[in-house]
Amino acid sequence: MPIIYDEAHRAFKLDTPHTSYVIAITDDEGFLGHAYYGASVSDTDLSHLLRIDEPPFVPSKNDRERGSFLDSFPSEYPGNGVGDYREGAVSVRDADGHTAVSPLYVGYRIEKGKPDLPGLPATFGSGDECETLLIFADDRSLDLHFTLRYTVFSDLDVIARSVIAENHSDKPIYLTKIMSASIDMDDRDYKMRTLHGSWARERVPGLADISYGKQGVGSVRGESSHQANPFIALESANATETEGEIYAFHLVYSGNFIAQVEKSQFDSLRVMVGINPQEFCWKLEPGETFDAPELVMTYSNEGRGKMTRTLHDLYRGHLIRSPHRSQKRPILINNWEATYFDFDTEKLLQIARVAKECGIEMLVMDDGWFGHRSSDDSSLGDWVVNENKLPGGLKYLVDEVNKIGLKFGIWFEPEMVSPDSDLYRAHPDWAIAIPGREACLSRCQLVLDLTRQEVRDYAYESLAAILRSANISYLKWDMNRQLSDLGSAALPADRQGEISHRYMLAVYEMQERLVHDFPDLLFENCSGGGARFDPGMLYYSPQIWCSDDTDAAERLIIQEGTEMCYPLSSMGAHVSICPNHAVGRVTPFGTRANVALAGTFGYELDITKLSDEEKSQVREQVKLYHKYNDLVREGDYYRVASYAENRLWDCWEVVSKDKSEALVTYVQVLGRPNVHSRNLRLLGLDGSRRYRVYIQNDDSCQAEEAEEIYRGDTLMHAGIQMPPLWGDFRSALIHLTAADQ
Ligand code: DGJ
Repeated sequence: MPIIYDEAHRAFKLDTPHTSYVIAITDDEGFLGHAYYGASVSDTDLSHLLRIDEPPFVPSKNDRERGSFLDSFPSEYPGNGVGDYREGAVSVRDADGHTAVSPLYVGYRIEKGKPDLPGLPATFGSGDECETLLIFADDRSLDLHFTLRYTVFSDLDVIARSVIAENHSDKPIYLTKIMSASIDMDDRDYKMRTLHGSWARERVPGLADISYGKQGVGSVRGESSHQANPFIALESANATETEGEIYAFHLVYSGNFIAQVEKSQFDSLRVMVGINPQEFCWKLEPGETFDAPELVMTYSNEGRGKMTRTLHDLYRGHLIRSPHRSQKRPILINNWEATYFDFDTEKLLQIARVAKECGIEMLVMDDGWFGHRSSDDSSLGDWVVNENKLPGGLKYLVDEVNKIGLKFGIWFEPEMVSPDSDLYRAHPDWAIAIPGREACLSRCQLVLDLTRQEVRDYAYESLAAILRSANISYLKWDMNRQLSDLGSAALPADRQGEISHRYMLAVYEMQERLVHDFPDLLFENCSGGGARFDPGMLYYSPQIWCSDDTDAAERLIIQEGTEMCYPLSSMGAHVSICPNHAVGRVTPFGTRANVALAGTFGYELDITKLSDEEKSQVREQVKLYHKYNDLVREGDYYRVASYAENRLWDCWEVVSKDKSEALVTYVQVLGRPNVHSRNLRLLGLDGSRRYRVYIQNDDSCQAEEAEEIYRGDTLMHAGIQMPPLWGDFRSALIHLTAADQ
């Protein structure tokens, strides 16, 4: 049984295959205490870890005054303003203006499987795969009831948490903060891992010491953001890919969030993650409920790599719903970097014809096909095909592309409106704005007020009409600006603080309609590159565009950070032209492909301008994709070296679940003179099996070469040698197949 309630000790114990999580209830008060999270333990009574019997001040004795012990008590879901002076997980403003709230234990229920979170993305699992504990805790003064939900997966070291608040009083209560989870623990010299960044530099791995007070990451941009991923982890000092303790927390949400650690006067840590309280105030009428988004947690005492593989398995098996999640995706060519806004039907067909000759399987028409859009300053909202660019319309183009033998995909930005659009001229109040304050433009556009049903119906129906008008196999849903000037013409004054979260619920509702109405569509989320690369989006789309930076060297770091949490099958990655449009860098064509092979794979260049030799390289790269994608998509990911840390070279590896095959990607970033060969100690192999080893350099269009046979233990402990490669940004693929097959 993964969840038990020990009545004698008033404790809940949640067990995953290798971890335990223990919650204890104090006898007198009904405070919910967080007793333990970590490697599996056998005992249930861990109440000594709550420290409630320790005397507060010398020479006082412990008389259980709240102010004496709550401030150091490891709380399971701390309230606000009642004697715990660390940050609370929930705060309110009641009808009389008071802010105190304190959820106290009332009861529990254990259910097979996992209930939905209405309107929100969430992990899922059947009754055989998981079990859920519901703890009921009420604030009796407010008559505000909380349900703390914990789902325990039986085959993965994951606990998914969420919180529901329900107003049982007869007056409105304003929620000013409601975190998805909070967890208190002793500090053992942990460090804080985050993924930070910027446009074109998303998800850079960061590691920082934890100092007294609060620190963390967050977003108030109305999207999870380029700047920070909704992820935080505590890592023991000197943790590596293979050793050390990691506590990871990942929010299944795409909007404003915080992920924070607070170090207290007693060297305890409080981690809390949830919707950012900045820009949040939710009015809860009597009888209404509020669902906070889901947080997934995992613990590893085998280093960061185990955390990564657990999250990959969770997301592939229990979050991504698309039927494409375990299918090889068609290799696409996208015209964005090839043409930007300057294209027409004939140009796209030329690209399609050459792409077909090279083995590419789908053409994606990016931004600029609608209204009178020829730069980024107009027409968002006017989702009518521009027949000056596409004479004969969209269906003609799609049919012609299909005749060439390619599928067709399309770009759309349903959440936005250009001031220069018929839509805005007809409905200026449909944009998010504050009356009397000029709303700031970003990329010449405004954000539609999707909190209004009629606005999201218009946006969704515009998109659906285009998808129904032709044989469209793929959709890239883009979102190119952040929210600001938060005002909705349709909400009363005391609900304006709900806009950011209502906006996210609206996007989720639209995407839910989309996946329901177009179940076979291959759907990729995108947000000015990777500003919405988060678990919430994966619930709707099996892949997300990773970054507008397609330079192979920059991508090493972006993809390293992304892969730390997200499965390779979800990571949009394309080969683009050199000099690279973001950084002007020239990298070998083969390396660009080797790096993109770690993701969904495709091209983002004008293939009609490639030389014959480059086109034959594309054909070879296409073969590599078909050869390796099943392994890359479904296998276990191991990081052998981190370019983000060493700034010299990069190496990652994917091993099939049955350990019969592995693919190692090696990138020597800058060439250096007079250096030895580099020793690569591989990971995750079966030590007793023999593996054939083939090395293929990026400049080789030949089949695999240089075959050797070694035992797995030799490859993992003694390693293999990679000779220095001539030039910068050189790379190699190392393919291992079990020799006993
Ligand atoms: C941002 C995306 O990341 C790009 O790939 C491209 O689709 C542009 N938007 C189009 O505006």
